[in-house]
Amino acid sequence: MSAASNTALGIRLDGVRAGYGDTVVLEGVSLTLPPHGAMAVLGRNGVGKTTLLATIMGHTTLHRGAIRLGESEIATLEPHRRARLGMGWVPQEREIFRSLTVEENLEVAARPGRWPPARIYEFFPSLAARRRHRGNELSGGEQQMLAIGRALVGSPAVLLMDEPLEGLAPVIVDAVLHGIERLRREDDLAILLVEQHTRLALAVTERAIVLDRGGIVHESDSRDLLDMPERLTALMGVAERRVRPAAWQAS
Ligand SMILES: Nc1ncnc2c1ncn2[C@@H]1O[C@H](COP(=O)(O)OP(=O)(O)OP(=O)(O)O)[C@@H](O)[C@H]1O
Ligand SMILES: [Mg+2]
Repeated sequence: MSAASNTALGIRLDGVRAGYGDTVVLEGVSLTLPPHGAMAVLGRNGVGKTTLLATIMGHTTLHRGAIRLGESEIATLEPHRRARLGMGWVPQEREIFRSLTVEENLEVAARPGRWPPARIYEFFPSLAARRRHRGNELSGGEQQMLAIGRALVGSPAVLLMDEPLEGLAPVIVDAVLHGIERLRREDDLAILLVEQHTRLALAVTERAIVLDRGGIVHESDSRDLLDMPERLTALMGVAERRVRPAAWQAS
């Protein structure tokens, strides 16, 4: 399948039950992310957010349910085949190669398509300035940009981002959020955004789900959830974080 045909796909999960071997983490998870859509995946620590993304990528044990990417049923495919069909993953632990340079990190992940490394450098100029530096010489923010860049050079149709703002200084949070906004404007991507910076995630998405103990306990427009602060607080409990760079303050 050519990279060009990877454009503008959505994903759909139906009745997904998944976990690690016999351990079931997700139960009865159904969701639809349309082409070009952006959905926030919220929830406290340990409720199954990463497991949801890992399941979509094929890194968990699927016990039941269907996972579609566009018209393709991908639930039985190996992770690398899902990636080739258009799934891109920015893992929570970033998982860049620390001993390779920025350039090398991008080269090993690159496929012909919409995102040659030159476009990544144009997109994240601070990475361009560091292209000959090794992964372990980068700041947390640069490592996060590189992790996003590594997913983009695969020309994904759907980008799964797992807490891209975690541990970043507010000014870098702003840069990464602007990157996500720009991706949405300029590229044919659908985005599933796991975040514990709840209000920031709601500000850059249209739809939101909240997970609790492996199931979806809330789904609505992101704007509606922002307008229900008490409900949001009840859903998120103590896990809600309060970093709100001024430019992204959702009112
Ligand atoms: N590799 C694994 N093997 C077995 N159980 C796991 C594994 N990874 C996670 N779990 C369990 O699955 C459940 C959900 O974990 P998961 O990492 O998906 O949560 P999360 O919502 O991403 O949490 P966080 O906000 O801390 O990132 C937890 O009970 C966790 O202990
Ligand atoms: Mg997680």
